[in-house]
Amino acid sequence: MAQHIERSVHGAAHVLDAGSGTGHHLARLTATMTGPVIGLGLDISKHAVRYAARHWPTLAFAVADLWGEWPVHDAAADLVVSIFAPKNFPEMARVLRPGGWLALAYPGPEHLIELRDRFGLLRQHGENSARYADMVMRFVGPSSVTRLHRHAVLDPATARAVILMGPNARHVDPAILDVGPDPLAVTFDINVLFAGKTKRKS
Ligand SMILES: C[S@@+](CC[C@H](N)C(=O)[O-])C[C@H]1O[C@@H](n2cnc3c(N)ncnc32)[C@H](O)[C@@H]1O
Repeated sequence: MAQHIERSVHGAAHVLDAGSGTGHHLARLTATMTGPVIGLGLDISKHAVRYAARHWPTLAFAVADLWGEWPVHDAAADLVVSIFAPKNFPEMARVLRPGGWLALAYPGPEHLIELRDRFGLLRQHGENSARYADMVMRFVGPSSVTRLHRHAVLDPATARAVILMGPNARHVDPAILDVGPDPLAVTFDINVLFAGKTKRKS
């Protein structure tokens, strides 16, 4: 994907990570690109943005609420990525240039299934795939989805970090989260959606 973007841009590729957290995905993605690249991460957490800005000095990070208007010009981005973060489709479409690409990652129906009942995690919305495809079709263009389904055994500290990622952090009390001393077998079920912005979409 990154190489495809690079071939289609003149000058620096502009990559936007909407909901960039600590910035590691943006850093890894832009590191795979061989040409000039300008990377911007947006996140509502000022702690995450501060951390990211310190760790990845060649990238830019800003605090922004993704549900509002993004601090980005119209048609400025060659690639917009959104990884387990809020998905504001009209804003994604506005900032993507015609011919630019959108990449979304979101949980599939079996994501962390072993941990859900045991730790009271939020259920994944099974309808997300259809809804996202509809919204992407409406605002960006036709999409394709790849499902990544893997099993892993996590040590207790990693399992704890995975449980407390994202919206679960607000639903699980870290103070009483006891994952025990043993490794945990966990399913990672992740959908990755790609869409190219068709010229006629706004
Ligand atoms: C599960 S984390 C994913 C972070 C990163 N994309 C990753 O995969 O490591 C979700 C991120 O979305 C951010 N977020 C949640 N609501 C947001 C909002 N309304 N506007 C901007 N960022 C938001 C959180 O601060 C968090 O960094």
